[in-house]
Amino acid sequence: MSNFLDEVHNGLSGKVKKLNPKWLYDFNGSKLFEEITKLQEYYVTRTEIGILEKNKSEIANLIGEKATVIEPGAGESKKISIFLKSLIEPKCYVPSDISKKYIKKIGKKLKKKLPKIKVNPVVDDFTSKKRINNKILKNKNIVVFFPGSTIGNFEKREAIHFLKNIKLKYKPKKIIIGVDLIKKKSVLLKAYNDKKGITARFNKNLLKRINKELKANFDIKSFKHSAIYNKSKSRIEMHLISLKNQKVKVHNKNFHFKKGETIHTESSHKYSPKSFNQLAKKSGWKVKKIWTDLNRQFSIQYLI
Ligand code: AVJ
Repeated sequence: MSNFLDEVHNGLSGKVKKLNPKWLYDFNGSKLFEEITKLQEYYVTRTEIGILEKNKSEIANLIGEKATVIEPGAGESKKISIFLKSLIEPKCYVPSDISKKYIKKIGKKLKKKLPKIKVNPVVDDFTSKKRINNKILKNKNIVVFFPGSTIGNFEKREAIHFLKNIKLKYKPKKIIIGVDLIKKKSVLLKAYNDKKGITARFNKNLLKRINKELKANFDIKSFKHSAIYNKSKSRIEMHLISLKNQKVKVHNKNFHFKKGETIHTESSHKYSPKSFNQLAKKSGWKVKKIWTDLNRQFSIQYLI
């Protein structure tokens, strides 16, 4: 995994230390994230599922019949199952992920749940420009399903690039996307600093992963999880704060940490309906419809 090593070396070499959030999601990280989704404080997952359940018939009617559903970075199967079950004669489900092993597993799991739907997993990096197999792209009614507010992980310009890129890549006519909304700071802070400390373990797991995969010697105990709200950028930021002056070796390179210095490990952008509308527009999409919960905590949006 030379790619990972290069990115970690680069990320720790800058004036501000920063790593791409995608590295948080190895096997253990994904398990920990799954635990996060069940936490009382983490409103995101259950709220999105509630919105989906409540509006699935309306959504299905907008999507229309014989849809091919592409899910970039497919993960857990609860939301996609609700979505596929509600659709009118869906043609095919295409989960995509960079890990072949993982995506095959996702495909099999879904086939068991929904035996009638054709499942066609593809190995693909959704940030790459590469088109996927043409047979799939011939379908007329292609929908991209992108729940979970994964879009929030991207910086704004990255999000625009992503929305533009999937248009070229998958030729979809429609997108169903989950977008987390700006809300009271206290609610956000609780969601990313849970009492049980699962989010802290999720964050620190990145250091464990680096130790394991890149022959590094991070002393996990001398880093502390922190999640703050950056108001000017409307985002939660996760950081790992060094608790002392220290030196860490990653493979063949040393990195110095001052006491209090942080590694920025993830951003989770929050939008207002208006700010996401603008973002969609800049990406060549139009928000046709938006569904939210009663407390306006989360949104599912329909883009054409
Ligand atoms: C998977 C990116 C949607 O930003 O809420 C949860 C990840 N990080 N708690 C989010 C996450 C810390 C999550 N996303």
